[in-house]
Amino acid sequence: MKILGIESSCDETACAVVENGRKVLSNVIATSLEEHKLYGGVVPEIASRRHAESISGVVEEALAQANCTIDDIDAIAVTYAPGLIGALLVGVNFAKGLALATDTPLVPVHHIRGHIASNYISNDVEPPFLCLIVSGGHSHIVAVNSYTDFEIIGKTRDDAAGEALDKAGRTMGLEYPGGVSIDRLSPQGDENKYIFPKPKVTGSPYDFSFSGLKTAVINTVHNAEQKGESIDIPSLAASFQKGVVDCLITNLEKVARDKGYNKIVIAGGVSANSKLRADAEKMCDRNNWKLYLPKLKYCGDNAAMIASQGYYEFLENNVANESLNAYATMSIDKSYRNN
Ligand code: KG4
Ligand code: ZN
Repeated sequence: MKILGIESSCDETACAVVENGRKVLSNVIATSLEEHKLYGGVVPEIASRRHAESISGVVEEALAQANCTIDDIDAIAVTYAPGLIGALLVGVNFAKGLALATDTPLVPVHHIRGHIASNYISNDVEPPFLCLIVSGGHSHIVAVNSYTDFEIIGKTRDDAAGEALDKAGRTMGLEYPGGVSIDRLSPQGDENKYIFPKPKVTGSPYDFSFSGLKTAVINTVHNAEQKGESIDIPSLAASFQKGVVDCLITNLEKVARDKGYNKIVIAGGVSANSKLRADAEKMCDRNNWKLYLPKLKYCGDNAAMIASQGYYEFLENNVANESLNAYATMSIDKSYRNN
C-alpha cells in the first residue's frame, strides 16, 4: 500500500511516498528557514505564503521521485494538528482537494505521532515502547501502546526543550535555530563551566520545566553585559545543553525504571542533538535497555514520517472527509475518529 504524505505545520513544505508504513520511496522537503533566520524565529505569515507557493511542485516532485502517479496512491495522509494554523491549512486544503479530485481516502495525522513514526522508517521497531518526544513545540514522555494508542506520562510545564534551546541560543547571539547552533558550538566549550540550578517540578515526578534554565542563561548574559565582563559563549552553550539533556535523561530513566520499559525510542527535532543521542546510549547501556533513534535526516520535520504514521492510522480507519479542519493544538492521545 502506497501512502502520499503531506506536511506543512511549520516552515517545511514536505511531501513523501511511503510503502506499507516502512519503505520510503521519496522524501521531498522545501524550507523557508533562511528567510526566518533574518527574524530570529519562524514568522507564521511568511511560512504560510511559502507553503502555498511550493506545495504543488513539492507534491509533483515526490510522486516523480517515487516513480509513480497519483493513481498509484492508496491514501493521502496530511498533518492536521498541532502547528501554525495558517501553515497547517495550506497542507490540509491541498490534501482535501487532491483526495476529492482523485477519489482517494484522506488520513489526518497528528504531527507528533508522525515524529514517533520517524523511527518506523529508520529502525526495525514496533510498539509497545516508551518514547521521549523533544521538538520545538513539545517535550513529552509517552507510552506508545500501539501504533495509534498513546498515553502521556510526563510533559513540560512551560517551554519545550527545543524552544528553550532556541531562545537561549538567541540570547547568546547564535544563529536560528539555536538548538542546532548550540549543538554545533558545544564541543568547543566546557560543559561544567557554568552551573545552572536543576529545575524542580512539583506534582508529577515525570514532568519537565525548562523556563528556569532559560532564565538563568539570560541572566548570566545580561549580568556579564552590565558588568562589562566577557562571556565564554561555547562554554555557556555547552553548559546549557548539558542542563537540558540532563533533565530529559533523568526523567526518561525514572519513567522507564518505574514502569518497567526496556525499549526506549527518541523522536522530534531535538533528537538530532549529539549530546542527547550520546547520553541516551549511555543510559540504555547501563540499564541494559534497547535504544532506537531516528536517522538524522528524519529527525526534523518531513513528510515520510507523516506517510508512515498515516499508513497505521488508515489501517485503524482513522479517515476524514472534506470537513477536515486544521488545529493549532491537539493532544497526542486523541485519535481523529474519536474527536
Ligand atoms: O521537530 P522539529 O523539527 O519541529 C517541531 O515540530 O517543533 O523541531 C525543531 C526544534 C528546534 O527547536 C531546533 O532548535 C531543534 O529542534 N533542533 C535541535 C537540533 N536540531 C534541531 N536541537 C538541538 N540539537 C540539534 N542538533
Ligand atoms: Zn516537528
